Amino acid sequence: MLVHFVTDEPSKIPAIRAMLEPRHSVDSRLLGAADSQISNGVLMVDADLREAARVEQIRLVLRDLRSVTERLFVVQSHVQHMVAQAFALGATSVVRSSREVVVKLAQIEVAEKAAKTGIAVASPENADGAAAFASMFAAIQSGKSINLSDAESATSQIVDAIAQNGLGAWLDNVRRYHEGTFQHCLLVTGVAVGFALDLRFAGPDVKRLGMAATLHDIGKGRIPLSILDKPGRLDPAEDEIMKRHPVLGYELLKDLPGISPEVLDGIRHHHEYLDGSGYPDALTAPKISDLVRLLTISDIFSALIERRPYKPAMSRHDAYKVLCGMDGKLEVSLVKAFRNVALEA
Ligand SMILES: [Fe+2]
Ligand SMILES: [Fe+2]
Repeated sequence: MLVHFVTDEPSKIPAIRAMLEPRHSVDSRLLGAADSQISNGVLMVDADLREAARVEQIRLVLRDLRSVTERLFVVQSHVQHMVAQAFALGATSVVRSSREVVVKLAQIEVAEKAAKTGIAVASPENADGAAAFASMFAAIQSGKSINLSDAESATSQIVDAIAQNGLGAWLDNVRRYHEGTFQHCLLVTGVAVGFALDLRFAGPDVKRLGMAATLHDIGKGRIPLSILDKPGRLDPAEDEIMKRHPVLGYELLKDLPGISPEVLDGIRHHHEYLDGSGYPDALTAPKISDLVRLLTISDIFSALIERRPYKPAMSRHDAYKVLCGMDGKLEVSLVKAFRNVALEA
């Protein structure tokens, strides 16, 4: 495969050549140098996205190379606003390390082959489903519709990972390697799947709850990044905008062929409470399905144990105590059943 490597640091070029050749042919270029138009291959960008001047140069390079459809950004510090900056510049994938570059290029090759032959191939390297999440959010942020098979593949990978290694290992891994909305959605899906497995749900029911969790906050892809990634408490006006995400997600997916009504219900209603104090429809207990009740518990617990740059993660024990204090809003018997998942799984 032809890789167009764009960097602000000439010393990175020999290392990239050594790593990728001879499997891939590398065409390197320095930011600021004259560029020619190309249309095939993969674009790989490794530059400091914190500097406005660099970002502007990348924008110019990408304008020349806009017909290259695969745009891979290396973001060494995987904080959410750098990831968001990469996607805002047109990245189709964001990776953190050289090893991930090799894996991602292999995945692109596999996907290209599958597209040509019509045969889908699973990629074992992508074990945590994060790439499928990134692809869904990138699609939503750039105004495209999402591919349900990305959500299905992320969900199955998470079900397999938790069935094999348990929820504790999953939570530790996700909190170590992912930030912001990705981290949140991966945690909610893991916790919901762990809950369903602990309740001994049948396979299709585990999958359905997992899909609802994977997609529950997809509407956040349409919330401005300045609000989504704000390092601190939202003001009332920002909070109002943030609270639109369940309806935005529902509207984005409601006409998608193959989407199940239960999953749509989960997307729209995961912030509803049994006492009617939730949003967006202020539903009360009789209108709130079992799937939504399970999802809401998983969502709140995951939000509390998230690791964020500006606030320490709450312990699983303390997060469970918060759930126990939400009498009237959550179903008491389900919160009791969740104890095992919260504290021991
Ligand atoms: Fe939400
Ligand atoms: Fe959420």
